[in-house]
Amino acid sequence: MKQLNLALQICLTTSLILQLVTCSNLTPTPNPWPDQFHALLFMNLSTTKLQLSDLWYDWPKGRNVNIFQKQLGEVLYDVEWNNGTSFYYTIGENGACEVMEFEVGIPRPDFLLDGAHYLGTEVTDGFLCNVWEKVDFIWYYEDVYTRRPVRWDFYDGISSQVMTFEVGAVLPDSVTQAPAYCFNQERDA
Ligand SMILES: *[C@@H]1O[C@H](CO)[C@@H](O)[C@H](O)[C@H]1NC(C)=O
Ligand SMILES: *[C@@H]1O[C@H](CO)[C@@H](O)[C@H](O)[C@H]1NC(C)=O
Repeated sequence: MKQLNLALQICLTTSLILQLVTCSNLTPTPNPWPDQFHALLFMNLSTTKLQLSDLWYDWPKGRNVNIFQKQLGEVLYDVEWNNGTSFYYTIGENGACEVMEFEVGIPRPDFLLDGAHYLGTEVTDGFLCNVWEKVDFIWYYEDVYTRRPVRWDFYDGISSQVMTFEVGAVLPDSVTQAPAYCFNQERDA
């Protein structure tokens, strides 16, 4: 009995120190996304072109906004709504817009919890991370100690590295208004 208690105590202490495992569940699960956050992403596209993205995730407002700065190129807005409509546009003199309809909305904060497959730990960009893979679509790296996302890779070779992660930051609504030339045009499905 005494030995059992000791074992239990060691187990509890260890899990407190590691803060990622419990005695009953040894497989870590990804931290759900905060309801609202802003992240600056450094992205390497499969074409090896580079871009920065200002990512503004906002679950309560039902939108996910990426503002892409292409390297030495244009700024592309990608405003995704939870009803499935996405607006892609540039602004300025030669501003252009494309509207897309998707069957699914933006990712839920806990989208990784459902069906993600734990792959173990790996050091990436100098951070020790837990790594998960989901449906051969996304590989997700989360800092073991801070539990912030560090990187995610998509099946098509696009890799995103998280440079800043501001929990609770909200993009002003005015920035998400698509320009007039997005409307009254045919929609791509
Ligand atoms: C981008 O990815 C390509 C292919 O993986 C790699 O060769 C290249 O070094 C990467 N560029 C940067 C700046 O990380
Ligand atoms: C989805 O919401 C956006 C933003 O409110 C709106 O512009 C768009 O028309 C909506 N799409 C549909 C299919 O209702």
